[in-house]
Amino acid sequence: MAYTPLRISTVKPNRDLTFDLYIFFKETYLKYHDKGAGLDEEKYGKLRKQKIAKFYITEDDEPHYQAFLDKLLEDTMSDPNVSVDEKVNVVDGACSTAIERMQEDPESEQSYKMTNKAAKSLRQVVEQNPEALKKIFGKKASEADLIIKHSLNVSALSLKLAQKMKCNDEQLDNIATAGLIHDVGITRLNKQDQELFKKEKSKYTSDDKRIYGLHVKDAVQALKDKPWVNAEVMELVINHEETLSGSGPNKKKKLSVSEMVLSLVNTYDKYVLTTGCTPGEAIKDMMINELGNYELDLINKFKEVLKAEGLLD
Ligand SMILES: [Fe+2]
Ligand SMILES: [Fe+2]
Repeated sequence: MAYTPLRISTVKPNRDLTFDLYIFFKETYLKYHDKGAGLDEEKYGKLRKQKIAKFYITEDDEPHYQAFLDKLLEDTMSDPNVSVDEKVNVVDGACSTAIERMQEDPESEQSYKMTNKAAKSLRQVVEQNPEALKKIFGKKASEADLIIKHSLNVSALSLKLAQKMKCNDEQLDNIATAGLIHDVGITRLNKQDQELFKKEKSKYTSDDKRIYGLHVKDAVQALKDKPWVNAEVMELVINHEETLSGSGPNKKKKLSVSEMVLSLVNTYDKYVLTTGCTPGEAIKDMMINELGNYELDLINKFKEVLKAEGLLD
């Protein structure tokens, strides 16, 4: 039997579950909750406290979970009585579950479609709630979830910058999806090479740079020739490490607006996560380190976005 992971924040209490819920304990999958009834508030609260973030479902229940999640997202996003915190929680859970599945099986159509939907909900929540972005960035991630957290950050912040750059509706949806999946290649690298994510770009040796660049190739390898992968999303993933100076793995110098946006935000968020500096310090450093890699006007607009979102306070 095959099991796939899901995040507890996508399973709300008092909502009848259409799938059996498993936990992974001592190398075995144990059934935790039967389909039919919902988790009660108390049990759910305990779970969140114990920080058991991950649950599993069987392959057979997969379509049921997908339908459940679609409905949950729809209900949560459109309900004015649901707090912004709760909306962000559910969207974070949906995005994290989708990214994790893409990491585990980047060739799966179902995972890609799930990512698409999660990206749309993310867009909805950040567009409709001025405080949402700050809440997303305020969430701490565990070491194991660093890439997932980074992907969510990049997606949300790229959306904001792309909006400021007057990207159209379709471009916004594509950038949101690409933000979520852009680094699926990293978990395909061996454990040691994955550590390069946490190393500051300016400290890379030429070998580091070459090896790290492989995560782009790995992602492309998994996603190419998949009819369900949107062509623009694919281009964005291919070019997310490219800069105007040709320093990326593809040595491309001419970038579309969406590509520049994704690349800039990617550089920014990786810098913040790896150096632990504040957004204010990061943008200041980028004005120096990344000049020539991005148009100054874009960096300035990005700074305005960070300011408007309250991230520089
Ligand atoms: Fe990357
Ligand atoms: Fe990245």
